[in-house]
Amino acid sequence: MSYELRANIMPTKPKKNRPKYKRILLKLSGESLQGDKKEGSIDPKMSISIAKQIKNIRDLKVEIAIVIGGGNIFRGFNAASEGMDRSTADYMGMLATVINGLALQDALEKTGLVTRLQTAIEMKELAEPYIRRKAIRHLEKGRVVIFAGGTGNPYFTTDTAAALRASEIDAEVILKGTKVDGVFSEDPMNNKNAKKYDELGYLDVIKDRLKVMDSTAISLCMDNDLPIIVFNFTKPGNIKRVVCGEKVGTLVK
Ligand code: GTP
Repeated sequence: MSYELRANIMPTKPKKNRPKYKRILLKLSGESLQGDKKEGSIDPKMSISIAKQIKNIRDLKVEIAIVIGGGNIFRGFNAASEGMDRSTADYMGMLATVINGLALQDALEKTGLVTRLQTAIEMKELAEPYIRRKAIRHLEKGRVVIFAGGTGNPYFTTDTAAALRASEIDAEVILKGTKVDGVFSEDPMNNKNAKKYDELGYLDVIKDRLKVMDSTAISLCMDNDLPIIVFNFTKPGNIKRVVCGEKVGTLVK
């Protein structure tokens, strides 16, 4: 068999240090900045460790946008379930994501990255307002763009913000960093026999109520053909493996 023919039929292996994606959207929870510290705080060491991992993939020339959550500081949904007005609680949650956005920006810049922070709710004194075309230009210039403030609307999660911003900026994939190895049939922290899925359809996630993202976020991804990879961000080097096309975590498509 000629080399050319063999090359055509052999499955292509992911290449180390060669990114599969040109533009990604990374969704980070607020808790990821918390590390081992108590609720309501940000661990500067953890933020730097996350920033270094992001720097590693930026060094591969991948364009990176980040949506950050606020759950380490304030969870709108929880406060609403305890009696607070839902919209007010959600606005407080959005403010929490801006605090995290500033902390992440600081950590990223300490690693030498150039960044821009944009907020969905205008607060010009501390960050740029979200302007889609400006965000895309920043990405093209190699700046890491952090989107804070969710979608700017109550009743939407930061996962939905991730799906929305990823669609708007034409990201090829959403990478959702978590503390576990992917999507499981049950909570793997509570059940050792929980089964990990390598691949799922969007409808499986909605139908089986798997905790990947809320149904609004999943529907938006489905409608826009946007794959999601859920992976363990606490394992050093994992994000680089995902970006280089290795089968890590769970792919939802
Ligand atoms: P280019 O147009 O590519 O030069 O992008 P740039 O972001 O470097 O230009 P610009 O002059 O818009 O921004 C310079 C700095 O000001 C950057 O750090 C921006 O993040 C920041 N900046 C721009 N607009 C705002 C704003 O509305 N509020 C705040 N707080 N900072 C802003």
